[in-house]
Amino acid sequence: MVSKYNAIARAHSNIAFIKYWGNKNDELRLAANSSISMNLKDLYTTTQVEWSDNISDDVLSINRKQADESARKRVSSHLQLIRDRFNVSKFATVNSINNFPMGTGIASSASSFAALTLAGVEALGESMSEKELSALARRGSGSASRSIPAGIVEWHAGDTDETSYADTFTQSSHWDLVDVIAIISKHHKRTGSSAGHTTAGTSVLQSVRVESAAKRLEDVKDAIVKKDFELFADVVEEDSNLMHAVMMTSRPPLFYWEATSLEIMKTIRDERINNRLQVCYTLDAGPNVHCICIREHAEQVISLLQDISSHIEIRTSSAGEGAHIVQSLNE
Ligand code: PMV
Repeated sequence: MVSKYNAIARAHSNIAFIKYWGNKNDELRLAANSSISMNLKDLYTTTQVEWSDNISDDVLSINRKQADESARKRVSSHLQLIRDRFNVSKFATVNSINNFPMGTGIASSASSFAALTLAGVEALGESMSEKELSALARRGSGSASRSIPAGIVEWHAGDTDETSYADTFTQSSHWDLVDVIAIISKHHKRTGSSAGHTTAGTSVLQSVRVESAAKRLEDVKDAIVKKDFELFADVVEEDSNLMHAVMMTSRPPLFYWEATSLEIMKTIRDERINNRLQVCYTLDAGPNVHCICIREHAEQVISLLQDISSHIEIRTSSAGEGAHIVQSLNE
């Protein structure tokens, strides 16, 4: 019998055009700067939460296997925020499934914590506004705040728990952008983003990056409204380069790029400048290159990547919806 305290939610991964790197407050995950991203329709996490009085701790499985203790603890801390908010003492059994295989080098924390937040709240029979859900998801993983609303999403950095949340900047139908992801390495990153955020301030470049982020955010928003790909591409690439410059000059330094990442970045830029291909690159805390392009140029971008190396695995995704309730883990 399906219990009353049960719900299943789905949330999509996202790729940031203006990046979040470093916090004003690590515990609350209050970002140093506002950011903007696109939800990825074809990459998602589906999570079932069932609250119960009959278990004495939270239980987590990921992709139908018992999760390791560090993942379980992180999920349990997030569930504690939900327990505290609604004054409940139940524990939860959580089953989480990613439609992109684990270890593809595609970060799952944004989609995972967004789905966990929505399913956890819904399973208690409670409801929260999109803004509140986004702020709560942020506590699990900053970028998860951007996987709650639909389409192209802006996370307002804010100054407090309540004022740091994301909302839709524009629906994805406004501009048919595609993310062609070049998967260079499937190895787990040595330094994850949670640890990386805490060292961002050790780079002398971080304050410059943060101070200039508001202007880049305005430029990207302007480019999106006008569908001005040239402006969009220049700012998105500059913002990614700046974040990686901060990473590389932090103590200890973080080097996420591989030789192939750089080769792809140069090729993408050359093709845009010399052959008018509407594509630009952006990289998160890993070596995989997200090539953002207009739909009409996606096939050409895929063949470019295949020409660079036959070993590069490719995933593509268009812009997607926000977190929502579904009826089954497999639908
Ligand atoms: O949400 P986190 O802690 O996984 O941080 C995400 C950081 C980046 O992916 C590098 C940038 C971003 O804005 O998504």
